[in-house]
Amino acid sequence: MRQKLLNEGAKELSYEIREIVKKADQLKKLGVAVSWENIGDPIQKHHKLPQWIKDIVSDLMKQDDTYSYCPSKGMLETREFLAKQTNAMGGVQITAEDICFFNGLGDAISKAYQFISRTSRVIGPTPAYSTHSSAEAAHAAHEPLTYKLDPNNKWYPDLDDLYNKVKYNPNIVGILIINPDNPTGMVYPLEILKRIVEIAKEFNLFLIADEIYINITYNGARAYALAEIIGEIPGISMKGISKELPWPGARCGWMEYYNRDKDEDFNRFCNALDNAKMIEVCSTKLPQVAIPKILGDPRFKVYRDETNKNIGRRSRIISDILKTVPQLTFNETFGAFYNTIIFRDGTLRHDQSMKIADPKVKALVEGWISQNHIELDKRFVYYLLAAKGVCVVPISSFCSELQGFRVTLLEEEEDALVKTFTAIRDGIVEYLGS
Ligand SMILES: Cc1ncc(COP(=O)(O)O)c(C=O)c1O
Repeated sequence: MRQKLLNEGAKELSYEIREIVKKADQLKKLGVAVSWENIGDPIQKHHKLPQWIKDIVSDLMKQDDTYSYCPSKGMLETREFLAKQTNAMGGVQITAEDICFFNGLGDAISKAYQFISRTSRVIGPTPAYSTHSSAEAAHAAHEPLTYKLDPNNKWYPDLDDLYNKVKYNPNIVGILIINPDNPTGMVYPLEILKRIVEIAKEFNLFLIADEIYINITYNGARAYALAEIIGEIPGISMKGISKELPWPGARCGWMEYYNRDKDEDFNRFCNALDNAKMIEVCSTKLPQVAIPKILGDPRFKVYRDETNKNIGRRSRIISDILKTVPQLTFNETFGAFYNTIIFRDGTLRHDQSMKIADPKVKALVEGWISQNHIELDKRFVYYLLAAKGVCVVPISSFCSELQGFRVTLLEEEEDALVKTFTAIRDGIVEYLGS
């Protein structure tokens, strides 16, 4: 008889941001026109890269050298460029040796948790971005371990919850921060970051900061990078170009290791991550070569500032449409390009619905919601998809006890944006009033 095939942790792997697409595709086949609010891909939402960026990439594609392998940790010039950018913040200082490239930040995230000892845990925020929470939970073959972000306090982390969980769980070796946050759009205030560093110091933990949105802030906010506040605590900053360039299809992200000289155990962990990349040979080369040319071009800041301003403007349009619904907890956003909107306690029930004219579409949705124990927010999301053609992600899928949904702030065509969010609001009003 064959031994057991599947690892215990495999059941922790789920990604509702893409799961919901399977449902939406079934509805599309029945003629429902879908507006995609599920995924954070600016290009899918009609964002166009400036021509000068495309010219840089097409020039690189004409050079033979672009097609070869590159060093395992990534192109040296690029790592030097990035180390210089980090050092210019005036906090922790690194060299090119403290940077390692991966095939997208998703690859970096799964490697990071994979090489943490099985019984050791990293605590992260809830609502949780599933790439982190699933990978961490799969490594430990246990449910994710989380600290609360509080929708009634601007989505700031509940520091008492974090402190107590760290204090009473000796298996915790690290704290994850996602700053700015996906899925809430919250930007961690400086004081809160400093307190998290203090907690890490008190309990001898390391920090992971997912900073893929670090340069995407708006409405007057500024995100403080881990490098600025970490002091002498060991930590990893995770960065990438999927969102801020944006070039998600390039599959290019990197880790920056901070203070490895101050903690030998942490240093061995960083070496293991480098070695894991070495046995794969290397990560995608073309985007690495393009990074200093694009991010180092003075036009990049102008472009990013303008793009951020537009996200901020869209956040206010969305706010004007949804903020007034009394059954919702709605927070303004300041970073990344998502908002998580929560239904107040007791507003969702199992007997609510929206009108669906097509009997085949209605039958399909009624089949989905008849499953036992369907989460109330998932039930709402299925109705919204079928009745209004808007595909959002239920917040219960982000390891959260809250009921709500995540939207993006990405639609570049303003008429389409207003139409989609008006449809969401009308759907909510109809559903809750039914
Ligand atoms: C917080 C966060 N980290 C990492 C990723 C994954 O990035 P990549 O496309 O580089 O794998 C995402 C993608 O949405 C994200 O939101």
